[in-house]
Amino acid sequence: MSNHALANAARVLRESRCTLAFTGAGISVESGVPPFRGPGGVWAKYDPAKFEKAYFRRNPEEVWPLLKEIFYSRLVHAKPNPAHYALAELERAGMLDGIVTQNIDGLHQEAGSLVVHEYHGSTRRMQCMKCREFFDASNISLEKLPPPCPVCGGLLKPDFVFFGEGIPTDVHRAATDLAGRAEVCLIVGTGGTVVPAGRIPYIVKNRGGVLIEINLHDTSYSYTVSDYYLQGKAGTRLPELVAATLG
Ligand code: APR
Repeated sequence: MSNHALANAARVLRESRCTLAFTGAGISVESGVPPFRGPGGVWAKYDPAKFEKAYFRRNPEEVWPLLKEIFYSRLVHAKPNPAHYALAELERAGMLDGIVTQNIDGLHQEAGSLVVHEYHGSTRRMQCMKCREFFDASNISLEKLPPPCPVCGGLLKPDFVFFGEGIPTDVHRAATDLAGRAEVCLIVGTGGTVVPAGRIPYIVKNRGGVLIEINLHDTSYSYTVSDYYLQGKAGTRLPELVAATLG
């Protein structure tokens, strides 16, 4: 990455009156959380069709062991990495107005970020599909699968967006409102392949905003709409950018 691009991206960040970070699985890879696509991707090993809401409702005995394996057993020990901490530092310095994340791992909040819109929900909550009660996932035992609702015994579902499910309206509204005000969008660790999430950077761009992209590999944003493309690992590039921005 040229120092020229870094210095210019840092200047743009410093001058921005409203900035949002749009993050995806790539920002958590260095925390040991596998991405969905690309080398070691989740969808190369598991069939995404099983994480479609109607399929889950019909086959909870089959899907819950997969959910436990992919999103609970392994990820419960994941910790924030320097990329998550860099965004929390940028927020504390008053230079980041919010994060719109596609991630469901809760690592932004664990790193200290306060304004985090979880566009695809979170593994840290579960909801009963019968009585609609919500529960903190850490209070639900996964010894017996599917885990019964503690209130009514109904089917519990992790509170993240399955394929075929809509985006929670309050989160969608908050995210698009922020994108409608942002002058700069940091794109970190996502190829934007899934919509409507992937459209967030275009909302900023189409209003004349600036896109600063940090990704390990080229994406559909890189040579089309990104104004700055700082290629590399988020755990390295993001702290560099924040250090250059805060001086
Ligand atoms: N640093 C920066 N970027 C990285 C790193 C890293 N260490 N490792 C991988 N990447 C990049 C990849 O190059 C890729 O562009 O992160 C991106 C990961 O892409 P995906 O796995 O498709 O993740 P994401 O874009 O968040 O997926 C969006 O798809 O399956 C759904 O709901 C799921 O939220 C998810 C959505």
